[in-house]
Amino acid sequence: MKSAVYIVLLAALPFLQVQAQAVDKSKSNTAQDRQQLLQQLQITTLRRGTDPALIKAFDPNSELGKLGLYGKIPEALVLNNGKPVTTAKQWWQQRRPELVEFFDREIYGRVPKNMPKVTWTVDSRVNAMHHQVPVIIKILKGHVDNSSYPAVNVDIQLVITQPAKIKKPVPVMMELSFPEDFRQLTGPADTTNLWQDEVLAKGWAYAMLLPVSIQTDNGAGLTQGIIGLMNKGQFRKPDDWGAVRAWAWGASRALDYIETDHSLDAKKVALEGHSRYGKTVLVAMAYDPRFAMVYSSSSGEGGAKLHRHNAGEQVENICSTGAYHWMAGNFLKYAGPLNCTDLPIDAHELIALAAPRPVFIGVGANKDDWAGPKGTFMAEVSAGPVYRLLGKKDLGTTNYPAVDQMVASGDLAFRLHHGGHTPALNWPYFIEFASKYWK
Ligand code: GCU
Repeated sequence: MKSAVYIVLLAALPFLQVQAQAVDKSKSNTAQDRQQLLQQLQITTLRRGTDPALIKAFDPNSELGKLGLYGKIPEALVLNNGKPVTTAKQWWQQRRPELVEFFDREIYGRVPKNMPKVTWTVDSRVNAMHHQVPVIIKILKGHVDNSSYPAVNVDIQLVITQPAKIKKPVPVMMELSFPEDFRQLTGPADTTNLWQDEVLAKGWAYAMLLPVSIQTDNGAGLTQGIIGLMNKGQFRKPDDWGAVRAWAWGASRALDYIETDHSLDAKKVALEGHSRYGKTVLVAMAYDPRFAMVYSSSSGEGGAKLHRHNAGEQVENICSTGAYHWMAGNFLKYAGPLNCTDLPIDAHELIALAAPRPVFIGVGANKDDWAGPKGTFMAEVSAGPVYRLLGKKDLGTTNYPAVDQMVASGDLAFRLHHGGHTPALNWPYFIEFASKYWK
């Protein structure tokens, strides 16, 4: 019974195969790609990152802001010219665009101008049972017009599962899924996908988007995917977009589809992503005001964790061959001639770009130190002034919370769950948080 839905999918959707990533085979190309960026930047050596094995848990007894910070966190509400931002209008018209420009140029890279059209088709629409709930499952494909460079083909993969019986358009929880989670849709019955059950129990739909169908997750793949299509198979320039920005662009294209589907409420679409996709959903939220809210799980360095916080993963790690492709080439400078204190911005300002919309940030207390729970919490605290300026409520505390204590009195929420590097344990709390807004 449980597996009914999967069997239906298995039969109906043989094409829904996730391509295995040729990580090993591509190593030499990745190194070559990173090397050419270093040449463009005239950098000869980069510092090595922290060894994950040496990461120590943060000491919760230390005072907020004193331990673990390199330099000072930039002020979100001070303009580049040093003048304070005191009105919402100044935020929208002056400060926010300044921050976006920094994130574009130095961290995530710029989306090319004149992006091609994406045409969505419903490849299959089946009625099925998802754990006793009658659902409709739509398998979608977003084909990117590649007439400018036919050598690269991009088909964005998205699956939407929604209650079969609805009276009005339903909200959507959209996950940016790891290939193994996405593959479970076609695999054997799965008992761990509890968040999907909870979403359906609320009468909402859930969507699973496959980021690697937009952009492969390695440096060698940068001449393919949407980045390669736009570059016509050439190397990136230092301020061109990285994979995180490309995945976020793809999430916006999925939202374009949702806007055309009258059974779904496009004004109530939340994003969820874990780890690298936890970074990505914050970026998607920052750049696309149509997304209603976000659950960013264990996003760490390059996501919600302050670059300037020294516990957990560091800027230098993200500049390694395994991760540099997530970011703009310019980010490499900060592990070479520059360091994290030279960054004109920090992670709190990425969170602030989501304002005034609700943001839920989760991390694990046990063996999730690589994601930098404390540096993440501090970033969310420091996004508070922007929320307050826009008439919303911040976290409501600057005290690092106890394990499993939900901090959600305002529009910014934080929860340090008792487990490790997983989004699962905070899902019920995110749904509780979302329910405040989607009654
Ligand atoms: C690595 C990386 C992290 C990233 C994580 C993931 O641990 O260092 O920055 O978040 O992979 O995405 O799984």
